[in-house]
Amino acid sequence: MLGYSSFLSESRFRINTLMSATSTAANDRTRLVIGNWKMHGNLSDNAALLAALRPAATTTQVAVCVPFPYLAQVAEALQGTAVSWGAQDVSTQVQGAYTGEISAPMLKDFGCRWVLVGHSERRSMHGESDQLVADKARAALAAGVTPVVCVGESLAERDAGQAIAVIHRQLAPVLALGADSVTKLVVAYEPVWAIGTGRTATPEQAQEVHAAIRAALQAVGAGNVQILYGGSVKASNAASLFSMPDIDGALVGGASLVADEFLRIAA
Ligand code: 13P
Repeated sequence: MLGYSSFLSESRFRINTLMSATSTAANDRTRLVIGNWKMHGNLSDNAALLAALRPAATTTQVAVCVPFPYLAQVAEALQGTAVSWGAQDVSTQVQGAYTGEISAPMLKDFGCRWVLVGHSERRSMHGESDQLVADKARAALAAGVTPVVCVGESLAERDAGQAIAVIHRQLAPVLALGADSVTKLVVAYEPVWAIGTGRTATPEQAQEVHAAIRAALQAVGAGNVQILYGGSVKASNAASLFSMPDIDGALVGGASLVADEFLRIAA
């Protein structure tokens, strides 16, 4: 039998352990919500959307990743606001005879804070390999632009019980960049079957993969990296996703094109 004083100190120990587990779970990572406009927009629609985003002031970090031709417009519209911006892809190279490519220093010239690398649409439509994605992340970091490394399994891979193995395979060359690099990037988990389908992963399904990503990051000394969820995120499902301990924000496609919806996700 425990005496009263050892019972008290035992309980205090339990409470402290619980509190520190809670605070290292979600609380000390800033929530980050990034809109991925994909290949949408034109000068006049963008102007209206950006004007609506300008006043955004939340404790959440908010950003938009836009098509290359609109970077100048976005930089001008969002300069001096709480909303940052970035691009959707980047070359592995700094400069040279690479027709059609855009380098990380060019993105930096336009004030980009972020760049998506390895989005599933680029992996599937442009044959981007896991190593190429890691090389793009390295190029972005070298220019001081934060890569948002996207990973995610297809429906067939999930149905075959391969979801976590696929994520590990996709992350491996990124983790090989080393702790100094990995601590400076962001990871986005976007199950391919949830992108643009209206079918969101349940918070529990997403959390299971996020926890596996967290463990892989922790193993290289980068356990505090922000891990975003993407795939049919809307204002109506964001709060339940964000209540999960390893979901630190969202990468939002369609809903980021509607200012009010996007701002409600980021609220
Ligand atoms: P949706 O939010 O339209 O499903 O797109 C998700 C996505 O691919 C963000 O990068």
